[in-house]
Amino acid sequence: MAADLVLAIETSCDETAVAIADAAGRPLVSRIASQIALHAPYGGVVPELASRNHSADLRPLVETTLTEAGVAMRDIGLVAATSGPGLASSLLVGDTTAKALAVGLGVPFYSINHMEGHLLSPFIEGGGEVEDHVALIVSGGHTLLIAVEGVGRYRLLGSTKDDAAGEAFDKVGKMLGLPYPGGPVIAALAASGRIDAFDFPRSMLHSGDLNFSFSGIKTSALHLKARLADPLREEELADFCASFQEAVVDVLVAKLLTAAAETGASLLSVSGGVSGNQRLRERLEAAAARAGVRLALAAPAHATDNAAMIAFAAAARRRAGIPPSPLNADIDPNLKLA
Ligand code: KG4
Ligand code: ZN
Repeated sequence: MAADLVLAIETSCDETAVAIADAAGRPLVSRIASQIALHAPYGGVVPELASRNHSADLRPLVETTLTEAGVAMRDIGLVAATSGPGLASSLLVGDTTAKALAVGLGVPFYSINHMEGHLLSPFIEGGGEVEDHVALIVSGGHTLLIAVEGVGRYRLLGSTKDDAAGEAFDKVGKMLGLPYPGGPVIAALAASGRIDAFDFPRSMLHSGDLNFSFSGIKTSALHLKARLADPLREEELADFCASFQEAVVDVLVAKLLTAAAETGASLLSVSGGVSGNQRLRERLEAAAARAGVRLALAAPAHATDNAAMIAFAAAARRRAGIPPSPLNADIDPNLKLA
Protein backbone atom coordinates (compact mmCIF):
# COMPACT_ATOMS: atom_id res chain seq x y z
CA MET A 1 0.00 0.00 0.00
CA ALA A 2 1.27 3.47 -0.86
CA ALA A 3 1.98 5.67 2.16
CA ASP A 4 -0.93 7.98 1.44
CA LEU A 5 -3.19 7.54 4.45
CA VAL A 6 -3.99 10.35 6.88
CA LEU A 7 -3.60 9.96 10.66
CA ALA A 8 -5.37 12.67 12.66
CA ILE A 9 -5.45 13.49 16.35
CA GLU A 10 -8.01 15.63 18.17
CA THR A 11 -7.48 16.59 21.83
CA SER A 12 -8.89 20.12 22.05
CA CYS A 13 -11.22 19.50 24.98
CA ASP A 14 -12.40 16.39 26.80
CA GLU A 15 -12.36 13.75 24.05
CA THR A 16 -9.18 11.96 23.01
CA ALA A 17 -9.78 11.09 19.36
CA VAL A 18 -7.76 9.42 16.60
CA ALA A 19 -8.76 8.66 13.02
CA ILE A 20 -7.21 7.08 9.97
CA ALA A 21 -8.54 8.26 6.62
CA ASP A 22 -7.73 7.60 2.98
CA ALA A 23 -6.01 10.22 0.85
CA ALA A 24 -9.37 11.89 0.09
CA GLY A 25 -10.13 12.15 3.80
CA ARG A 26 -12.74 9.37 3.89
CA PRO A 27 -12.47 7.73 7.33
CA LEU A 28 -11.30 4.13 7.60
CA VAL A 29 -11.51 4.10 11.39
CA SER A 30 -12.45 6.89 13.82
CA ARG A 31 -12.04 6.23 17.54
CA ILE A 32 -12.84 8.31 20.61
CA ALA A 33 -11.76 7.71 24.20
CA SER A 34 -14.41 9.78 25.94
CA GLN A 35 -13.68 11.55 29.20
CA ILE A 36 -17.29 12.61 29.75
CA ALA A 37 -17.79 10.27 32.73
CA LEU A 38 -14.57 11.55 34.28
CA HIS A 39 -15.64 15.21 34.20
CA ALA A 40 -19.37 14.63 34.88
CA PRO A 41 -19.05 14.81 38.70
CA TYR A 42 -17.63 18.36 38.30
CA GLY A 43 -20.45 19.53 36.00
CA GLY A 44 -17.95 20.61 33.34
CA VAL A 45 -14.49 19.97 31.94
CA VAL A 46 -11.56 20.18 34.40
CA PRO A 47 -8.54 21.20 32.23
CA GLU A 48 -5.83 19.46 34.27
CA LEU A 49 -7.76 16.17 34.36
CA ALA A 50 -8.36 16.45 30.61
CA SER A 51 -4.70 16.90 29.63
CA ARG A 52 -3.45 14.16 31.96
CA ASN A 53 -5.92 11.73 30.49
CA HIS A 54 -5.10 12.74 26.92
CA SER A 55 -1.46 11.91 27.72
CA ALA A 56 -2.40 8.53 29.16
CA ASP A 57 -4.94 7.59 26.48
CA LEU A 58 -3.46 8.91 23.26
CA ARG A 59 -0.68 6.45 22.55
CA PRO A 60 -2.77 3.30 23.11
CA LEU A 61 -5.57 4.88 21.07
CA VAL A 62 -3.22 5.53 18.12
CA GLU A 63 -2.15 1.88 18.28
CA THR A 64 -5.67 0.42 18.46
CA THR A 65 -6.88 2.73 15.67
CA LEU A 66 -4.06 1.57 13.39
CA THR A 67 -4.71 -2.07 14.28
CA GLU A 68 -8.44 -1.75 13.64
CA ALA A 69 -7.79 -0.08 10.30
CA GLY A 70 -5.39 -2.90 9.46
CA VAL A 71 -2.64 -0.46 8.54
CA ALA A 72 0.92 0.06 9.70
CA MET A 73 2.71 3.30 10.58
CA ARG A 74 4.56 3.09 7.27
CA ASP A 75 1.22 3.48 5.43
CA ILE A 76 0.72 6.97 6.88
CA GLY A 77 1.56 9.77 4.46
CA LEU A 78 0.25 12.76 6.42
CA VAL A 79 -0.26 13.52 10.11
CA ALA A 80 -2.70 16.17 11.37
CA ALA A 81 -3.73 17.53 14.76
CA THR A 82 -6.05 20.18 16.14
CA SER A 83 -4.11 23.32 17.08
CA GLY A 84 -7.02 25.35 18.48
CA PRO A 85 -9.36 26.65 19.69
CA GLY A 86 -9.53 24.69 22.93
CA LEU A 87 -7.78 24.12 26.23
CA ALA A 88 -4.05 24.89 25.91
CA SER A 89 -2.84 21.94 27.97
CA SER A 90 -5.12 19.55 26.07
CA LEU A 91 -4.19 20.91 22.62
CA LEU A 92 -0.49 20.52 23.41
CA VAL A 93 -0.79 16.78 23.95
CA GLY A 94 -2.25 16.05 20.50
CA ASP A 95 -0.18 18.69 18.70
CA THR A 96 3.14 17.50 20.14
CA THR A 97 2.37 13.83 19.58
CA ALA A 98 1.33 14.45 15.97
CA LYS A 99 4.46 16.51 15.24
CA ALA A 100 6.66 13.77 16.73
CA LEU A 101 4.92 11.16 14.57
CA ALA A 102 5.31 13.33 11.46
CA VAL A 103 9.04 13.80 12.13
CA GLY A 104 9.52 10.10 12.89
CA LEU A 105 7.71 9.05 9.71
CA GLY A 106 9.20 11.83 7.58
CA VAL A 107 5.75 12.95 6.35
CA PRO A 108 4.00 16.36 6.23
CA PHE A 109 2.20 17.75 9.28
CA TYR A 110 -0.99 19.83 9.09
CA SER A 111 -2.22 21.78 12.11
CA ILE A 112 -5.98 22.12 11.82
CA ASN A 113 -8.43 24.63 13.27
CA HIS A 114 -11.01 22.60 15.23
CA MET A 115 -13.79 24.80 13.81
CA GLU A 116 -12.66 24.08 10.25
CA GLY A 117 -12.91 20.40 11.17
CA HIS A 118 -16.54 20.93 12.24
CA LEU A 119 -17.30 23.15 9.24
CA LEU A 120 -16.14 20.60 6.68
CA SER A 121 -17.56 17.56 8.53
CA PRO A 122 -20.89 17.48 6.59
CA PHE A 123 -18.82 16.73 3.46
CA ILE A 124 -16.89 13.75 4.85
CA GLU A 125 -19.32 11.18 3.46
CA GLY A 126 -19.09 12.67 -0.03
CA GLY A 127 -15.31 12.69 0.28
CA GLY A 128 -15.17 15.12 -2.63
CA GLU A 129 -15.00 18.82 -3.36
CA VAL A 130 -16.42 21.35 -0.94
CA GLU A 131 -18.76 23.70 -2.84
CA ASP A 132 -19.13 27.35 -1.90
CA HIS A 133 -21.94 27.64 0.61
CA VAL A 134 -23.12 29.09 3.92
CA ALA A 135 -22.20 27.12 7.06
CA LEU A 136 -23.71 27.16 10.53
CA ILE A 137 -21.43 25.73 13.22
CA VAL A 138 -23.15 25.06 16.55
CA SER A 139 -20.91 23.60 19.23
CA GLY A 140 -20.35 23.89 22.95
CA GLY A 141 -18.05 26.88 22.55
CA HIS A 142 -19.10 28.52 19.28
CA THR A 143 -22.10 29.58 17.23
CA LEU A 144 -20.82 30.76 13.85
CA LEU A 145 -22.34 31.62 10.49
CA ILE A 146 -19.67 31.45 7.80
CA ALA A 147 -19.60 32.09 4.07
CA VAL A 148 -17.39 29.34 2.62
CA GLU A 149 -15.58 30.52 -0.50
CA GLY A 150 -13.33 27.49 -0.92
CA VAL A 151 -11.32 25.33 1.48
CA GLY A 152 -9.42 27.69 3.80
CA ARG A 153 -11.38 30.74 2.60
CA TYR A 154 -13.96 31.62 5.21
CA ARG A 155 -15.83 34.87 5.80
CA LEU A 156 -17.57 35.51 9.12
CA LEU A 157 -21.25 36.44 8.66
CA GLY A 158 -22.33 36.26 12.28
CA SER A 159 -21.54 34.81 15.69
CA THR A 160 -22.84 34.76 19.23
CA LYS A 161 -22.46 37.87 21.34
CA ASP A 162 -22.36 35.83 24.55
CA ASP A 163 -23.07 32.13 25.13
CA ALA A 164 -22.84 29.48 22.40
CA ALA A 165 -25.94 27.42 21.61
CA GLY A 166 -24.43 24.26 23.15
CA GLU A 167 -23.35 26.22 26.20
CA ALA A 168 -26.97 27.37 26.69
CA PHE A 169 -28.13 23.73 26.56
CA ASP A 170 -25.42 22.75 29.07
CA LYS A 171 -26.10 25.63 31.47
CA VAL A 172 -29.86 25.08 31.43
CA GLY A 173 -29.21 21.34 31.91
CA LYS A 174 -27.12 22.10 34.99
CA MET A 175 -29.86 24.44 36.27
CA LEU A 176 -32.35 21.57 35.93
CA GLY A 177 -30.02 19.20 37.79
CA LEU A 178 -29.40 17.09 34.66
CA PRO A 179 -26.12 15.27 33.97
CA TYR A 180 -23.35 16.95 31.96
CA PRO A 181 -23.40 17.65 29.06
CA GLY A 182 -26.99 18.88 29.14
CA GLY A 183 -27.58 19.06 25.38
CA PRO A 184 -28.33 15.42 24.60
CA VAL A 185 -30.21 14.97 27.91
CA ILE A 186 -32.47 17.98 27.26
CA ALA A 187 -33.05 16.71 23.70
CA ALA A 188 -34.13 13.28 25.00
CA LEU A 189 -36.49 14.76 27.63
CA ALA A 190 -37.89 17.25 25.09
CA ALA A 191 -39.15 14.39 22.91
CA SER A 192 -42.17 13.88 25.19
CA GLY A 193 -42.75 17.56 26.04
CA ARG A 194 -44.86 20.36 24.55
CA ILE A 195 -42.98 22.99 22.57
CA ASP A 196 -45.47 25.72 23.50
CA ALA A 197 -45.89 24.98 27.21
CA PHE A 198 -43.57 27.81 28.29
CA ASP A 199 -42.61 31.05 26.65
CA PHE A 200 -38.86 31.47 26.06
CA PRO A 201 -37.35 34.50 24.29
CA ARG A 202 -36.09 34.25 20.69
CA SER A 203 -33.23 36.70 21.26
CA MET A 204 -32.01 38.77 18.30
CA LEU A 205 -34.45 37.07 15.95
CA HIS A 206 -35.24 40.46 14.44
CA SER A 207 -31.90 42.13 15.10
CA GLY A 208 -31.35 42.82 11.41
CA ASP A 209 -27.95 41.14 11.49
CA LEU A 210 -26.72 37.55 11.57
CA ASN A 211 -25.53 37.52 15.18
CA PHE A 212 -26.90 35.44 18.04
CA SER A 213 -27.38 35.81 21.79
CA PHE A 214 -28.21 32.94 24.13
CA SER A 215 -27.65 34.50 27.55
CA GLY A 216 -31.20 35.93 27.75
CA ILE A 217 -32.80 32.53 27.34
CA LYS A 218 -30.64 31.21 30.16
CA THR A 219 -31.82 33.99 32.49
CA SER A 220 -35.40 33.38 31.50
CA ALA A 221 -34.93 29.65 32.22
CA LEU A 222 -33.62 30.55 35.67
CA HIS A 223 -36.68 32.74 36.40
CA LEU A 224 -39.07 30.08 35.14
CA LYS A 225 -37.38 27.42 37.24
CA ALA A 226 -37.77 29.61 40.34
CA ARG A 227 -41.53 29.96 39.66
CA LEU A 228 -42.13 26.22 39.30
CA ALA A 229 -42.26 23.50 41.96
CA ASP A 230 -38.92 22.12 43.10
CA PRO A 231 -38.26 19.44 41.96
CA LEU A 232 -40.16 19.78 38.68
CA ARG A 233 -42.86 17.23 37.95
CA GLU A 234 -41.97 14.80 35.16
CA GLU A 235 -44.31 16.40 32.56
CA GLU A 236 -43.17 19.88 33.58
CA LEU A 237 -39.54 18.93 33.04
CA ALA A 238 -40.33 17.53 29.58
CA ASP A 239 -42.33 20.67 28.72
CA PHE A 240 -39.52 22.90 30.01
CA CYS A 241 -36.96 21.07 27.83
CA ALA A 242 -39.17 21.02 24.72
CA SER A 243 -40.07 24.72 24.98
CA PHE A 244 -36.48 25.75 25.65
CA GLN A 245 -35.12 23.62 22.80
CA GLU A 246 -37.75 25.00 20.40
CA ALA A 247 -36.71 28.59 21.14
CA VAL A 248 -33.03 27.82 20.44
CA VAL A 249 -33.94 25.89 17.29
CA ASP A 250 -36.22 28.72 16.06
CA VAL A 251 -33.34 31.20 16.20
CA LEU A 252 -30.76 28.88 14.60
CA VAL A 253 -33.06 27.96 11.71
CA ALA A 254 -34.21 31.54 11.10
CA LYS A 255 -30.69 33.01 11.09
CA LEU A 256 -29.31 30.33 8.77
CA LEU A 257 -32.16 30.81 6.29
CA THR A 258 -31.73 34.59 6.46
CA ALA A 259 -28.03 34.15 5.71
CA ALA A 260 -28.95 31.96 2.73
CA ALA A 261 -31.35 34.59 1.41
CA GLU A 262 -28.89 37.45 1.92
CA THR A 263 -25.97 35.70 0.24
CA GLY A 264 -28.00 33.88 -2.43
CA ALA A 265 -26.43 30.58 -1.31
CA SER A 266 -28.05 27.44 -2.72
CA LEU A 267 -26.24 25.10 -0.33
CA LEU A 268 -26.21 25.22 3.48
CA SER A 269 -24.26 23.09 5.93
CA VAL A 270 -24.74 22.57 9.67
CA SER A 271 -22.16 21.01 11.98
CA GLY A 272 -20.95 20.84 15.60
CA GLY A 273 -22.31 19.00 18.62
CA VAL A 274 -25.72 20.72 18.61
CA SER A 275 -26.25 19.73 14.95
CA GLY A 276 -26.83 16.19 16.25
CA ASN A 277 -30.09 17.51 17.78
CA GLN A 278 -32.96 15.65 16.13
CA ARG A 279 -35.49 18.47 16.41
CA LEU A 280 -33.01 20.93 14.87
CA ARG A 281 -32.32 18.50 12.01
CA GLU A 282 -36.03 18.07 11.26
CA ARG A 283 -36.71 21.81 11.36
CA LEU A 284 -33.67 22.54 9.16
CA GLU A 285 -34.72 19.96 6.60
CA ALA A 286 -38.23 21.39 6.42
CA ALA A 287 -36.98 24.99 6.16
CA ALA A 288 -34.41 24.16 3.48
CA ALA A 289 -37.01 22.30 1.42
CA ARG A 290 -39.40 25.29 1.69
CA ALA A 291 -36.65 27.69 0.61
CA GLY A 292 -35.51 25.40 -2.23
CA VAL A 293 -31.92 25.15 -0.99
CA ARG A 294 -29.82 22.03 -0.43
CA LEU A 295 -28.76 21.10 3.08
CA ALA A 296 -25.68 19.15 4.20
CA LEU A 297 -25.86 17.99 7.81
CA ALA A 298 -22.94 16.47 9.68
CA ALA A 299 -23.56 12.76 10.21
CA PRO A 300 -24.48 12.24 13.89
CA ALA A 301 -21.16 10.41 14.45
CA HIS A 302 -19.30 13.44 13.10
CA ALA A 303 -21.38 16.12 14.88
CA THR A 304 -19.65 15.97 18.26
CA ASP A 305 -15.88 16.13 18.57
CA ASN A 306 -14.00 13.47 16.61
CA ALA A 307 -10.75 13.09 14.68
CA ALA A 308 -12.31 12.02 11.35
CA MET A 309 -13.21 15.67 10.76
CA ILE A 310 -9.60 16.70 11.43
CA ALA A 311 -8.33 14.08 8.95
CA PHE A 312 -10.85 15.26 6.36
CA ALA A 313 -9.91 18.94 6.82
CA ALA A 314 -6.20 18.09 6.42
CA ALA A 315 -6.87 16.08 3.25
CA ALA A 316 -9.07 18.90 1.89
CA ARG A 317 -6.36 21.49 2.58
CA ARG A 318 -3.73 19.37 0.87
CA ARG A 319 -6.04 18.85 -2.13
CA ALA A 320 -6.64 22.62 -2.27
CA GLY A 321 -2.89 23.15 -2.56
CA ILE A 322 -2.45 24.60 0.93
CA PRO A 323 1.07 23.75 2.15
CA PRO A 324 1.77 21.75 5.34
CA SER A 325 2.31 23.58 8.64
CA PRO A 326 5.80 24.30 9.96
CA LEU A 327 6.80 22.11 12.89
CA ASN A 328 7.23 25.18 15.08
CA ALA A 329 3.59 26.22 14.47
CA ASP A 330 2.15 26.96 17.90
CA ILE A 331 -1.17 25.92 19.35
CA ASP A 332 -3.65 28.76 19.93
CA PRO A 333 -6.46 28.32 22.51
CA ASN A 334 -8.28 31.29 20.90
CA LEU A 335 -7.65 30.40 17.27
CA LYS A 336 -10.15 32.13 14.96
CA LEU A 337 -11.65 30.65 11.81
CA ALA A 338 -12.52 33.95 10.20
O1 KG4 B 1 -18.85 20.15 18.92
P1 KG4 B 1 -18.85 19.64 20.31
O2 KG4 B 1 -18.75 18.15 20.52
O3 KG4 B 1 -17.72 20.26 21.17
C1 KG4 B 1 -17.27 21.59 21.02
O4 KG4 B 1 -16.45 21.85 20.12
O5 KG4 B 1 -17.79 22.40 21.83
O6 KG4 B 1 -20.19 20.19 20.96
C2 KG4 B 1 -20.56 19.86 22.27
C3 KG4 B 1 -21.87 20.54 22.57
C4 KG4 B 1 -22.27 20.45 24.02
O7 KG4 B 1 -22.68 21.72 24.44
C5 KG4 B 1 -23.45 19.48 24.00
O8 KG4 B 1 -24.39 19.69 25.03
C6 KG4 B 1 -24.04 19.77 22.65
O9 KG4 B 1 -22.93 19.94 21.80
N1 KG4 B 1 -24.88 18.68 22.15
C7 KG4 B 1 -26.22 18.80 21.94
C8 KG4 B 1 -26.67 17.54 21.48
N2 KG4 B 1 -25.58 16.70 21.43
C9 KG4 B 1 -24.51 17.42 21.84
N3 KG4 B 1 -27.06 19.84 22.09
C10 KG4 B 1 -28.35 19.65 21.78
N4 KG4 B 1 -28.86 18.49 21.36
C11 KG4 B 1 -28.06 17.40 21.18
N5 KG4 B 1 -28.59 16.25 20.75
ZN1 ZN C 1 -16.05 20.75 18.73
